[in-house]
Amino acid sequence: MDKYAEQTQQEFEGWEDFFHKPVDEKVKYFKRDGRIFDVIYAQQFDRPFLDHLCNLAEMIRHLARTKVGQSKLRHLLPHKRAMLYFVQPSTRTFLSFQNACHILGLTVSEIRGTSTSSEVKGESPEDTIRTFASYVNLIISRHPEAGFAEKTAWVLNQTERPVPVLNGGSGPDQHPTQALLDIYTLEREFRTIGGLDGKKIAMVGDLKRGRTVRSLSYLMKNYKNVELVYVAPQVFKMKDDIKEFLNKHNIPFKETEDFESIMPEVDAIYMTRIQNEYAADPTSEAETFPGFHLKTKHMSMIQTHCAILHPLPRRYEIDVRIDKDPRAAYWRQERCGMWIRAALIAYIFRVDGGITEEFN
Ligand code: CP
Repeated sequence: MDKYAEQTQQEFEGWEDFFHKPVDEKVKYFKRDGRIFDVIYAQQFDRPFLDHLCNLAEMIRHLARTKVGQSKLRHLLPHKRAMLYFVQPSTRTFLSFQNACHILGLTVSEIRGTSTSSEVKGESPEDTIRTFASYVNLIISRHPEAGFAEKTAWVLNQTERPVPVLNGGSGPDQHPTQALLDIYTLEREFRTIGGLDGKKIAMVGDLKRGRTVRSLSYLMKNYKNVELVYVAPQVFKMKDDIKEFLNKHNIPFKETEDFESIMPEVDAIYMTRIQNEYAADPTSEAETFPGFHLKTKHMSMIQTHCAILHPLPRRYEIDVRIDKDPRAAYWRQERCGMWIRAALIAYIFRVDGGITEEFN
């Protein structure tokens, strides 16, 4: 559909001041009664929260194995409605949130592109989000703009009907719920060898524009003796703000372009694709960087317990023949996304106590 008007730009008093504050100061704004209300940045999560959510995800997963358990879960939130506002392409985040809502009994509405919303008539993003809040109890957003979820949650928190906003990916900036599922996956993959504490993790590929590796890097401050290895071509090196964060929190890391050299020493390899959707001309980036691909010949070079993760979608970064190797955790990882997102929604609506009681 053609646009009828350019999208309206609105100015909100106080937003610029808020926007420029350090995240550490901003997180309190997205809390209510000592609990997280809006999920905007990975820096909002501390270790007790992460442990609680991973345990909760395990419990939900366990309950969902039986018809009786599924019925209990579905009766937790049938009185709540969620809006999935996904105006940047998504398969996993959309479907895992949608199914997480179904598991807990929420009713779901969706918009999957600005061309089918009144944004095509020039409505601002802030008015669009405010409109959702008139109808639903929870907004989950995926947007191409960095900071979108932060701004809309901030605007909504000043209205008479603030509803929680969950950031399902905002530009190349943050993907905090992906970081949650990555932590949950790593904890599960390492459950017989002491969990994530003490592990060395390689992150490989387009680290400059990859929001998943950025959000996951922030979470490393919650784990003991973790080390990171950033493996990227010169043009896609991890940005300085993340490296400054790691230095501030005394998290050791190194950078290399020699992927094979670090394969034997790491406990997990987190592969990513080239994020060329953020290039001015995406088709101009045809280079696939084969030196940063995981190939079948590498499987004998990595440790027997090494977990291979990928937020997906993949292109050529992981040879499909690796999928059969038990160390390939990426298909389990995307399923973990549904369970941890169900756990997050249960926490947001404060029905997590009802789930844990089932196991006492
Ligand atoms: N990992 C992830 O965000 O996948 P989608 O883009 O398919 O949601």
